[in-house]
Amino acid sequence: MRIAVCGKGGSGKSTIAALLASEALHRGYRVLVVDGDESNAGLFQMLGFDDPPRPLLDFIGGREGLKKKMGEPNIFELAQITTADIPEKYILSNNGLSLVAIGKIMHALEGCACPMGALNREFLKKLTLEEDEIAIVDLEAGVEHFGRGIETGIDSILIVVEPPLESVNVGRRVHEMASDIGIRSIWAVLNKVPSEQIAARLSDELQSRQIAVAGSIHFNEQIFSASLEGVIPRERLEAVGKIFEVILPDKSKG
Ligand SMILES: Nc1ncnc2c1ncn2[C@@H]1O[C@H](COP(=O)(O)OP(=O)(O)OP(=O)(O)O)[C@@H](O)[C@H]1O
Ligand SMILES: [Mg+2]
Repeated sequence: MRIAVCGKGGSGKSTIAALLASEALHRGYRVLVVDGDESNAGLFQMLGFDDPPRPLLDFIGGREGLKKKMGEPNIFELAQITTADIPEKYILSNNGLSLVAIGKIMHALEGCACPMGALNREFLKKLTLEEDEIAIVDLEAGVEHFGRGIETGIDSILIVVEPPLESVNVGRRVHEMASDIGIRSIWAVLNKVPSEQIAARLSDELQSRQIAVAGSIHFNEQIFSASLEGVIPRERLEAVGKIFEVILPDKSKG
Protein backbone atom coordinates (compact mmCIF):
# COMPACT_ATOMS: atom_id res chain seq x y z
CA MET A 1 0.00 0.00 0.00
CA ARG A 2 1.41 3.34 -1.09
CA ILE A 3 -0.29 6.29 0.56
CA ALA A 4 0.30 9.90 -0.47
CA VAL A 5 -0.40 12.74 1.93
CA CYS A 6 -1.33 16.01 0.28
CA GLY A 7 -3.20 19.25 0.90
CA LYS A 8 -2.73 22.97 1.29
CA GLY A 9 0.53 24.45 2.57
CA GLY A 10 0.94 24.22 6.33
CA SER A 11 -2.18 22.07 6.81
CA GLY A 12 -0.17 19.37 8.59
CA LYS A 13 0.84 16.96 5.81
CA SER A 14 4.30 16.16 7.15
CA THR A 15 3.05 15.91 10.73
CA ILE A 16 0.31 13.48 9.70
CA ALA A 17 2.69 11.49 7.49
CA ALA A 18 5.06 11.13 10.48
CA LEU A 19 2.25 10.31 12.93
CA LEU A 20 0.84 7.65 10.59
CA ALA A 21 4.31 6.18 10.07
CA SER A 22 4.74 5.91 13.81
CA GLU A 23 1.26 4.35 14.20
CA ALA A 24 2.02 1.76 11.49
CA LEU A 25 5.31 0.88 13.23
CA HIS A 26 3.49 0.35 16.52
CA ARG A 27 1.14 -2.00 14.71
CA GLY A 28 4.07 -4.09 13.53
CA TYR A 29 4.50 -2.87 9.97
CA ARG A 30 7.67 -1.87 8.24
CA VAL A 31 7.29 1.64 6.93
CA LEU A 32 9.04 3.42 4.10
CA VAL A 33 8.53 7.18 4.20
CA VAL A 34 9.18 8.91 0.90
CA ASP A 35 10.03 12.58 1.23
CA GLY A 36 8.58 13.98 -1.98
CA ASP A 37 8.62 17.63 -0.95
CA GLU A 38 11.31 19.49 -2.88
CA SER A 39 11.23 22.52 -0.59
CA ASN A 40 10.89 21.58 3.08
CA ALA A 41 13.76 19.69 4.60
CA GLY A 42 12.69 18.77 8.13
CA LEU A 43 10.92 15.44 7.69
CA PHE A 44 13.97 13.37 8.69
CA GLN A 45 13.99 15.08 12.06
CA MET A 46 10.26 14.53 12.62
CA LEU A 47 10.91 10.83 12.06
CA GLY A 48 13.72 10.79 14.63
CA PHE A 49 16.73 10.66 12.31
CA ASP A 50 19.79 12.84 13.01
CA ASP A 51 20.59 13.67 9.39
CA PRO A 52 18.72 13.59 6.11
CA PRO A 53 19.33 10.75 3.62
CA ARG A 54 21.22 11.55 0.43
CA PRO A 55 18.54 12.21 -2.17
CA LEU A 56 17.70 9.66 -4.86
CA LEU A 57 18.44 12.44 -7.33
CA ASP A 58 22.14 12.01 -6.44
CA PHE A 59 21.82 8.24 -6.87
CA ILE A 60 20.98 8.68 -10.54
CA GLY A 61 23.72 11.25 -11.14
CA GLY A 62 22.19 14.55 -10.02
CA ARG A 63 20.37 16.93 -12.34
CA GLU A 64 22.82 16.22 -15.16
CA GLY A 65 22.42 12.46 -14.89
CA LEU A 66 18.67 12.83 -14.68
CA LYS A 67 18.56 15.11 -17.72
CA LYS A 68 20.31 12.44 -19.81
CA LYS A 69 18.01 9.69 -18.54
CA MET A 70 14.81 11.69 -19.03
CA GLY A 71 14.90 10.95 -22.75
CA GLU A 72 15.28 7.21 -22.09
CA PRO A 73 12.40 4.86 -21.32
CA ASN A 74 13.59 4.35 -17.74
CA ILE A 75 15.28 6.58 -15.18
CA PHE A 76 15.93 3.67 -12.82
CA GLU A 77 17.37 0.63 -14.56
CA LEU A 78 15.47 -1.83 -12.37
CA ALA A 79 11.99 -2.87 -13.48
CA GLN A 80 10.90 -3.06 -9.84
CA ILE A 81 12.43 -1.40 -6.81
CA THR A 82 12.33 -2.85 -3.30
CA THR A 83 13.78 -1.14 -0.24
CA ALA A 84 16.64 -3.67 -0.34
CA ASP A 85 17.61 -2.40 -3.81
CA ILE A 86 18.28 1.13 -2.53
CA PRO A 87 21.95 1.58 -1.64
CA GLU A 88 22.57 2.32 2.03
CA LYS A 89 23.68 5.90 1.47
CA TYR A 90 20.30 6.80 0.05
CA ILE A 91 18.04 5.18 2.61
CA LEU A 92 17.97 5.69 6.36
CA SER A 93 16.64 2.81 8.43
CA ASN A 94 15.91 2.32 12.09
CA ASN A 95 13.76 -0.39 13.68
CA GLY A 96 11.45 -0.93 10.76
CA LEU A 97 11.26 2.72 9.72
CA SER A 98 13.03 3.80 6.52
CA LEU A 99 13.27 7.14 4.81
CA VAL A 100 14.22 8.13 1.28
CA ALA A 101 14.15 11.63 -0.18
CA ILE A 102 13.64 12.36 -3.84
CA GLY A 103 15.56 15.64 -4.00
CA LYS A 104 15.57 19.18 -2.69
CA ILE A 105 15.97 22.55 -4.31
CA MET A 106 19.23 23.71 -2.71
CA HIS A 107 20.49 26.64 -4.79
CA ALA A 108 19.11 29.75 -6.41
CA LEU A 109 18.66 29.35 -10.18
CA GLU A 110 19.38 25.60 -10.09
CA GLY A 111 16.24 24.88 -12.13
CA CYS A 112 12.68 23.83 -11.45
CA ALA A 113 11.47 20.78 -9.56
CA CYS A 114 9.99 19.03 -12.63
CA PRO A 115 12.85 16.50 -12.97
CA MET A 116 12.37 15.51 -9.33
CA GLY A 117 8.68 15.02 -10.07
CA ALA A 118 9.56 12.63 -12.91
CA LEU A 119 11.96 10.77 -10.63
CA ASN A 120 9.38 10.48 -7.88
CA ARG A 121 6.73 9.27 -10.32
CA GLU A 122 8.92 6.48 -11.65
CA PHE A 123 10.22 5.55 -8.22
CA LEU A 124 6.68 5.15 -6.83
CA LYS A 125 5.49 3.23 -9.87
CA LYS A 126 8.34 0.76 -9.56
CA LEU A 127 8.31 0.55 -5.78
CA THR A 128 7.37 -2.98 -4.77
CA LEU A 129 6.37 -3.59 -1.18
CA GLU A 130 6.05 -6.74 0.87
CA GLU A 131 2.78 -7.63 2.60
CA ASP A 132 4.02 -6.13 5.88
CA GLU A 133 5.34 -2.91 4.32
CA ILE A 134 3.56 0.42 3.94
CA ALA A 135 4.89 3.42 2.03
CA ILE A 136 3.86 6.91 3.08
CA VAL A 137 4.67 9.73 0.70
CA ASP A 138 4.86 13.30 1.99
CA LEU A 139 4.14 15.61 -0.92
CA GLU A 140 4.69 19.30 -1.52
CA ALA A 141 1.80 21.67 -0.84
CA GLY A 142 -0.89 22.26 -3.45
CA VAL A 143 -1.70 20.28 -6.57
CA GLU A 144 1.30 20.60 -8.88
CA HIS A 145 2.32 17.00 -8.17
CA PHE A 146 -0.86 15.89 -9.94
CA GLY A 147 0.29 17.79 -13.01
CA ARG A 148 3.48 15.73 -12.85
CA GLY A 149 1.55 12.48 -12.54
CA ILE A 150 3.15 11.40 -9.28
CA GLU A 151 -0.11 9.88 -8.11
CA THR A 152 -0.07 7.32 -10.92
CA GLY A 153 2.10 5.24 -8.58
CA ILE A 154 -0.16 5.71 -5.55
CA ASP A 155 -2.89 3.47 -4.11
CA SER A 156 -4.44 5.79 -1.57
CA ILE A 157 -4.63 9.57 -1.15
CA LEU A 158 -5.02 11.38 2.14
CA ILE A 159 -6.04 14.99 1.82
CA VAL A 160 -5.27 17.01 4.91
CA VAL A 161 -7.94 19.65 5.40
CA GLU A 162 -7.99 22.37 8.03
CA PRO A 163 -10.77 24.88 8.66
CA PRO A 164 -9.98 27.68 6.16
CA LEU A 165 -12.16 27.42 3.03
CA GLU A 166 -9.10 27.52 0.79
CA SER A 167 -7.98 24.23 2.34
CA VAL A 168 -11.39 22.69 1.53
CA ASN A 169 -11.06 24.01 -2.04
CA VAL A 170 -7.64 22.39 -2.45
CA GLY A 171 -9.20 19.20 -1.07
CA ARG A 172 -11.92 19.30 -3.70
CA ARG A 173 -9.42 19.73 -6.53
CA VAL A 174 -7.23 16.94 -5.19
CA HIS A 175 -10.26 14.69 -4.93
CA GLU A 176 -11.32 15.42 -8.51
CA MET A 177 -7.86 14.83 -9.94
CA ALA A 178 -7.27 11.68 -7.93
CA SER A 179 -10.65 10.29 -9.07
CA ASP A 180 -9.83 11.19 -12.68
CA ILE A 181 -6.72 9.02 -12.63
CA GLY A 182 -8.63 6.11 -11.14
CA ILE A 183 -7.57 6.19 -7.49
CA ARG A 184 -10.38 4.68 -5.44
CA SER A 185 -9.10 5.17 -1.94
CA ILE A 186 -9.32 8.93 -1.38
CA TRP A 187 -9.81 10.30 2.11
CA ALA A 188 -9.92 13.65 3.78
CA VAL A 189 -8.35 13.96 7.21
CA LEU A 190 -9.48 16.98 9.19
CA ASN A 191 -6.66 18.59 11.07
CA LYS A 192 -6.23 21.31 13.69
CA VAL A 193 -9.96 21.37 14.37
CA PRO A 194 -10.69 23.40 17.49
CA SER A 195 -13.98 21.68 18.47
CA GLU A 196 -16.34 18.82 17.65
CA GLN A 197 -18.80 21.33 16.18
CA ILE A 198 -16.25 22.67 13.71
CA ALA A 199 -15.18 19.10 12.86
CA ALA A 200 -18.83 18.22 12.13
CA ARG A 201 -19.30 21.32 9.94
CA LEU A 202 -16.13 20.64 8.01
CA SER A 203 -17.04 16.98 7.66
CA ASP A 204 -20.53 17.85 6.32
CA GLU A 205 -18.99 20.31 3.88
CA LEU A 206 -16.68 17.61 2.48
CA GLN A 207 -19.21 14.80 2.48
CA SER A 208 -21.69 16.97 0.59
CA ARG A 209 -19.02 16.99 -2.12
CA GLN A 210 -18.67 13.21 -2.00
CA ILE A 211 -15.35 13.40 -0.19
CA ALA A 212 -15.12 10.68 2.45
CA VAL A 213 -13.68 11.73 5.81
CA ALA A 214 -11.35 9.24 7.50
CA GLY A 215 -11.24 11.11 10.80
CA SER A 216 -10.16 14.27 12.52
CA ILE A 217 -7.26 15.43 14.64
CA HIS A 218 -7.92 18.28 17.00
CA PHE A 219 -5.65 21.25 17.36
CA ASN A 220 -3.19 19.65 19.75
CA GLU A 221 -0.82 21.69 21.83
CA GLN A 222 1.60 18.76 22.18
CA ILE A 223 1.91 18.53 18.39
CA PHE A 224 2.40 22.25 18.09
CA SER A 225 5.00 22.53 20.84
CA ALA A 226 6.89 19.41 19.61
CA SER A 227 7.16 21.16 16.23
CA LEU A 228 9.24 23.89 17.88
CA GLU A 229 11.90 21.16 18.24
CA GLY A 230 11.16 19.83 14.76
CA VAL A 231 9.66 16.60 16.09
CA ILE A 232 6.28 14.94 16.72
CA PRO A 233 4.98 13.81 20.13
CA ARG A 234 6.18 10.35 21.17
CA GLU A 235 2.79 9.27 22.52
CA ARG A 236 0.37 7.57 20.14
CA LEU A 237 -2.71 9.64 19.40
CA GLU A 238 -6.03 7.82 19.50
CA ALA A 239 -7.31 9.89 16.56
CA VAL A 240 -4.40 8.72 14.39
CA GLY A 241 -5.09 5.08 15.29
CA LYS A 242 -8.71 5.52 14.21
CA ILE A 243 -7.68 7.09 10.91
CA PHE A 244 -5.25 4.21 10.31
CA GLU A 245 -8.07 1.72 10.82
CA VAL A 246 -10.35 3.54 8.39
CA ILE A 247 -7.84 3.89 5.58
CA LEU A 248 -6.20 0.49 6.06
CA PRO A 249 -8.94 -1.78 7.40
CA ASP A 250 -7.15 -4.90 6.15
CA LYS A 251 -3.97 -3.93 7.90
CA SER A 252 -5.42 -2.96 11.24
CA LYS A 253 -3.67 -5.59 13.33
CA GLY A 254 -2.31 -4.88 16.81
N1 LIG B 1 -3.25 18.77 14.92
C1 LIG B 1 -2.38 19.75 15.09
N2 LIG B 1 -2.41 20.51 16.21
C2 LIG B 1 -1.56 21.53 16.39
N3 LIG B 1 -0.61 21.87 15.53
C3 LIG B 1 -0.51 21.15 14.39
C4 LIG B 1 -1.37 20.05 14.10
N4 LIG B 1 -1.01 19.52 12.90
C5 LIG B 1 0.03 20.24 12.46
N5 LIG B 1 0.32 21.24 13.34
C6 LIG B 1 1.35 22.25 13.24
O1 LIG B 1 1.17 22.97 12.01
C7 LIG B 1 2.44 23.35 11.49
C8 LIG B 1 2.57 22.87 10.06
O2 LIG B 1 2.60 21.45 10.05
P1 LIG B 1 3.33 20.63 8.91
O3 LIG B 1 4.71 21.11 8.73
O4 LIG B 1 3.12 19.20 9.20
O5 LIG B 1 2.45 21.09 7.67
P2 LIG B 1 2.71 20.79 6.14
O6 LIG B 1 1.37 20.71 5.52
O7 LIG B 1 3.62 19.62 5.98
O8 LIG B 1 3.45 22.12 5.69
P3 LIG B 1 4.19 22.38 4.28
O9 LIG B 1 3.09 22.71 3.29
O10 LIG B 1 5.05 23.57 4.58
O11 LIG B 1 4.95 21.15 3.91
C9 LIG B 1 3.49 22.74 12.43
O12 LIG B 1 3.86 23.72 13.39
C10 LIG B 1 2.73 21.62 13.11
O13 LIG B 1 3.22 21.30 14.39
MG1 LIG C 1 5.42 19.43 4.92
